Amino acid sequence: MAKRRAVVVLLALYTQVVCCGLGISDQLRVLGPQAVNLWKLQNARAHSRPQAQGSLLVQEQDYSQIQTQVGNDEKDALRGKFPEHWFSQPLDHFSGDGQLTETWRQRYWINTRHYVPGENTPVIVIDGGETSGEDRLGFLDTGIADILARATGGIGVVLEHRYYGNSLPVKNLTTDSLRFLNNAQSAADSANFMANVKFPGIDENLTAPNHPWIYYGGSYAGARAAHMRVLYPNLVWGAIASSGVTHASLENWEYMEIIRRAADIKCSGNIQLTVEIVDSLIGNPITSRAIKALFGLAGLEHNEDFASILESPLGNWQARNWDPEVGTTGWDDFCAALDGKFVHDPDMNFVSYDEGMDMVTIAEDLTVPVPVYNYARYIKENYVSRCPDGAVEDCFGTYDDSKFRDTGLDQIWRLWLFQVCTEWGYFSTAPPAGKPRIVSRLLTLEYESKICKQAYPPGKHFVVPSFPNISAVNALGDFDIAADRLAIIDGEVDPWRPVTPHSDYARDREDTILRPFKVIGGGVHHWDENGRRNLLEEPSQIQMIHEDIIVFVTSWLDDWAAKRAAHAET
Ligand SMILES: *[C@@H]1O[C@H](CO)[C@@H](O)[C@H](O)[C@H]1NC(C)=O
Ligand SMILES: *[C@@H]1O[C@H](CO)[C@@H](O)[C@H](O)[C@H]1NC(C)=O
Ligand SMILES: *[C@@H]1O[C@H](CO)[C@@H](O)[C@H](O)[C@H]1NC(C)=O
Repeated sequence: MAKRRAVVVLLALYTQVVCCGLGISDQLRVLGPQAVNLWKLQNARAHSRPQAQGSLLVQEQDYSQIQTQVGNDEKDALRGKFPEHWFSQPLDHFSGDGQLTETWRQRYWINTRHYVPGENTPVIVIDGGETSGEDRLGFLDTGIADILARATGGIGVVLEHRYYGNSLPVKNLTTDSLRFLNNAQSAADSANFMANVKFPGIDENLTAPNHPWIYYGGSYAGARAAHMRVLYPNLVWGAIASSGVTHASLENWEYMEIIRRAADIKCSGNIQLTVEIVDSLIGNPITSRAIKALFGLAGLEHNEDFASILESPLGNWQARNWDPEVGTTGWDDFCAALDGKFVHDPDMNFVSYDEGMDMVTIAEDLTVPVPVYNYARYIKENYVSRCPDGAVEDCFGTYDDSKFRDTGLDQIWRLWLFQVCTEWGYFSTAPPAGKPRIVSRLLTLEYESKICKQAYPPGKHFVVPSFPNISAVNALGDFDIAADRLAIIDGEVDPWRPVTPHSDYARDREDTILRPFKVIGGGVHHWDENGRRNLLEEPSQIQMIHEDIIVFVTSWLDDWAAKRAAHAET
């Protein structure tokens, strides 16, 4: 397997505005095709940073590491603590014709610091999900895998997902090469790993089902954890699906609805106001030009692309975390910007400001409230400023197919998007007509999903369907997915909650030790996955969920030991 490398120049003091503190897969889910544009602009900047200022750090990096949130110092420290290991996997688990299929290497990391050898020793595995496994190493060090390993004398593992990070089974990302990136193959990877791995430096044979494995995942990986418990009940003794998106859907407008209702009422009101005004102006060519010019986007041809840039800051909601070292303050910054007083900014394209009315005139006979002006200023400073002058169509247009045709391994946005287009959906659309909204009505299913055709022309071996076939995911249980020793944990104001078993559409359940069903009050996206080494430093609702998890997992492991003892007697 050829591992392609890129030389990246990084400034040590360089704090780049990463959209929403989200990884590319999360950005794609929230922002659709526009996310690819933002990703490209970010990457272009990362590559072309001038070497003049600051202390320079030149290092060789894998492509997978270019796009990450975690600070580079912290990443290096984690890499030093947890060396990577490799496990051989077949490319196609289901070739079935007896032919020897190609193999590739799946990457994993282990935490053995709490390991106590013994017949009942558990393995706690974190599913890396749709990102480089390196992005999960913090959870092996101080997060859920460490917390559970410490409580149980087990080993913690992060298992990277096929095609992500350096677990690369292919040499490019064409439609054909991507055809082995699907739920069934990746679940089979995990099963094969659990049944056959030999951990380096560990004498004991800790494979499943001879040892109890606890499978943890957050978000997409959370759905995978639930699926693993259902699909491989003999290998997965227990599973924790945190923010597990077990309901695949085409239109996921409820994502923005959670934010609209949970955000500070003033902020939510300012966004709603701006969206209403933009939507009312955008239909008429004259007013449309004026409002786009205010945002610095007069040169953008399609109104849908304009509407989709306006949506970009909303991803910041999901990037909030109880631990400031993990989350970002982007959401609060955005809200504060909208709520600010009028500032006369010479870079802004407007006519005048009327202090008495607190209104901004943006064209003849066209005035808008200050929050709209502030919204435009925020977008201009944080997004449009990344684009070379006059090139807004190149930067933010999504109608040119050739933009999405590069199939190199560095185009990591192609991975999750392929999963979206084939099996998962979650196109982030405007709510049904008549409902209040914080995104433009122009964000339709057609607009959000057109990239599936643009990016993945039919291959020889595989054709991406017009719309993802979400029934395969939902056939595994959907909102009602349940099993003994399958825990469902969600965040109260997680924008993904509507597609989890805690959705308002789902039936309520009892919360028991055998089938835990818990909500983290005020929590967002898998807030139990990260932790502090000293749990007492965590806010009370996080301490509580971590204690709950320790209690039910310990109980599940007691059941395992009892079953084993009973087995030994007979
Ligand atoms: C992609 O890789 C496959 C085999 O790994 C190769 O046959 C194909 O020509 C490649 N396509 C492109 C566009 O690089
Ligand atoms: C571990 O134990 C299982 C079950 O006894 C066995 O099939 C497997 O070969 C063993 N693995 C190793 C690496 O010894
Ligand atoms: C969608 O997936 C389901 C479940 O795997 C399958 O039965 C069905 O035939 C698929 N539908 C299409 C249109 O491919």
